[in-house]
Amino acid sequence: MTKAVRIHETGGPSVMQLETIDLPDPGPGQVRVRHTAIGLNFIDTYHRSGVYPVPLPSGLGLEAAGIVEETGEGVSTLKPGDRIAYGNGPIGAYAEAANVFANRVAKIPGPVSDEQAAALMLKGMTVRYLFKDTYPLEPGDTILFHAAAGGVGQIACQWAKDLGVTLIGTAGSDEKCAIARRKGAAHMINYSREDVPARVRELTGGQGVPVVYDGVGKATFEMSLDCLAPRGLLATFGNASGTVTGVDLGILTQKGSLYVTRPSLMHYVARDEDLAANTADVFDALARGAISAEVNQRYALADAVTAHEDLEGRRTTGASVLVP
Ligand SMILES: NC(=O)c1ccc[n+]([C@@H]2O[C@H](COP(=O)([O-])OP(=O)(O)OC[C@H]3O[C@@H](n4cnc5c(N)ncnc54)[C@H](OP(=O)(O)O)[C@@H]3O)[C@@H](O)[C@H]2O)c1
Repeated sequence: MTKAVRIHETGGPSVMQLETIDLPDPGPGQVRVRHTAIGLNFIDTYHRSGVYPVPLPSGLGLEAAGIVEETGEGVSTLKPGDRIAYGNGPIGAYAEAANVFANRVAKIPGPVSDEQAAALMLKGMTVRYLFKDTYPLEPGDTILFHAAAGGVGQIACQWAKDLGVTLIGTAGSDEKCAIARRKGAAHMINYSREDVPARVRELTGGQGVPVVYDGVGKATFEMSLDCLAPRGLLATFGNASGTVTGVDLGILTQKGSLYVTRPSLMHYVARDEDLAANTADVFDALARGAISAEVNQRYALADAVTAHEDLEGRRTTGASVLVP
């Protein structure tokens, strides 16, 4: 028997319930992992609210770290006692234990704590694919990254600095701007009171930036387009403020023959070799000290409701974990 956070309907945080479930033995290719730390991500709120539909009833959570308890048929790469982490599902990480496919997890390197791994897998892999695959950054580039004091955002600030990239970040308060600056953002704009496109033009000698990474979505979509140089790319990778809908593509011509992509980590690490290469880069960046996984909020698994309220209420900075 395992305690797990489950939903039977979509809605606000209160639809999450801590239940006791039967966890079957791990199937072929799977291992059972006893979680020690569970990563909290904004995508979990989309699954809970129905923005991203999942079959119901459902567990929640895509990211966790822990210890292998049992291996299923055909698993030769892992054994009981191994410390592992995963950051792209399967859905159901908000639980004391889960069955996961051995080829979709990473062994946690010795010096890395379980909590760091749980804080870093999904968010680190996201920054890595955005910076290396969606729009491959070069030293000397200047970019705009929204919500730079958040979980993904803080890793982006550090990774950009390591790459020699000038990151202009946005955040909703002066305190958050200061945090992101300490993490490596070259410039910060408080988008609750400043004119973001005007500031970006000022900071780029009137040029605009070649790429905007936007996890905020609806509230920032148009302003993001207005920050781009002609033929620039908007990577709109999240919906923290709501989903972007009803776009007239003509706006892309008017604003400079722009490109827009709506990428998802899932597609960038669908092949095992891509997942392994991405994860290796994340752990390498951690080992070099280029990035760190700052856990600023910890919640008991039973307090998932509060965790979601805080994340959606913009009260968190950096990463958050649930502790089973
Ligand atoms: N596509 C992918 O592959 C992928 C993978 C991972 C994450 N994501 C996306 O990346 C974004 C960041 O994820 P995260 O887990 O690291 O979350 P997070 O950045 O820690 O939290 C979201 C932040 O968005 C900002 N925000 C702006 N408007 C908001 C609003 N109306 N409601 C709530 N927040 C608002 C807040 O920062 P301020 O107060 O500073 O505005 C908030 O702290 C999310 O949109 C997530 O879905 C996408």
